Amino acid sequence: MGFDEMDVDTIWMDGEFVDWDEAQIHVLTHGLHYGTGVFEGIRCYDTERGPAVFRFDEHLERLYESAKPYDLDIGYSLEELKEATLELIRRQELESCYIRPISFFGYDSLGVSPKDCPTRTAIACWPWGAYLGEEALENGVDVMVSSWRKHASSQIPTNAKATGPYLNSMLAGEEARGNGYVEAIVLNKEGNVAEGPGENIFMVNDGEIYTPGLAQSILNGITRETVITLAEEHGYTVHDDAVISRGELYTADELFFSGTAAEVTPIKSVDDNEIGSGTRGPVTEELQQAFFDLVERRTDDHDDWFTYVE
Ligand SMILES: Cc1ncc(COP(=O)(O)O)c(C=O)c1O
Repeated sequence: MGFDEMDVDTIWMDGEFVDWDEAQIHVLTHGLHYGTGVFEGIRCYDTERGPAVFRFDEHLERLYESAKPYDLDIGYSLEELKEATLELIRRQELESCYIRPISFFGYDSLGVSPKDCPTRTAIACWPWGAYLGEEALENGVDVMVSSWRKHASSQIPTNAKATGPYLNSMLAGEEARGNGYVEAIVLNKEGNVAEGPGENIFMVNDGEIYTPGLAQSILNGITRETVITLAEEHGYTVHDDAVISRGELYTADELFFSGTAAEVTPIKSVDDNEIGSGTRGPVTEELQQAFFDLVERRTDDHDDWFTYVE
């Protein structure tokens, strides 16, 4: 569904609430030409206590960390961005939504150096359902290993969620969709499993859980960290610094993606090889249930991970 079909009308931009259609930039904006921006993807869930933003501080902290290697001064404090977002949700009476803060080098000149380009910062929120589809949450997705490798963190910091590097994600995802798959898995420069184009990946084998470590050129996903915590609370051993080879994907008992957009999505096949029984595995189901119980607040656990909009 496109934005024009959604009941949203306001964007926060550079300190002001503006009409959705007025949130414009110049065509010679630095960030548009060179991908010099950083952003976040955050979810606000509809709970019995009203809308609640999940791990808001952690996401905004990552936004500032993403900006650091690029010397991009976001220009607003974490509290200011937080308050602006909460007010956006209130003004548009959103119950659940996806939240997209972005900060990028603006309009001044187009040398690769952004030195005199002002930082522009904006936040938008809109309703967004299951990223890979409702059916995918239950039955899992068919994925392929992309022919595109993930850039190494020695080439572009992979723990920074910057706009330009998403060209890599787009290539991998579109290649997969063009070949009839729902999503891709990208290998890193060494040929080991890194992640999905917009998701981290988990593998279950003999009742233990494995996920590639941060040195495998992955984004340090906040859902990844949440899943690790939940899995440990459920008594599982989690190897969060794993090196996973391509071949191990095919013989895994279970595989699943984690991410703010994809939440916890089972993977039912890789390169046409059925994973486990070719449907959502029991450990995936248990963790997925724990995740949705958490974010929809059917438990009191981890209440400090939620910011209630009030
Ligand atoms: C490349 C990549 N990996 C992993 C993730 C998952 O991160 P998170 O759980 O913080 O949304 C995302 C989504 O932002 C992503 O774009």
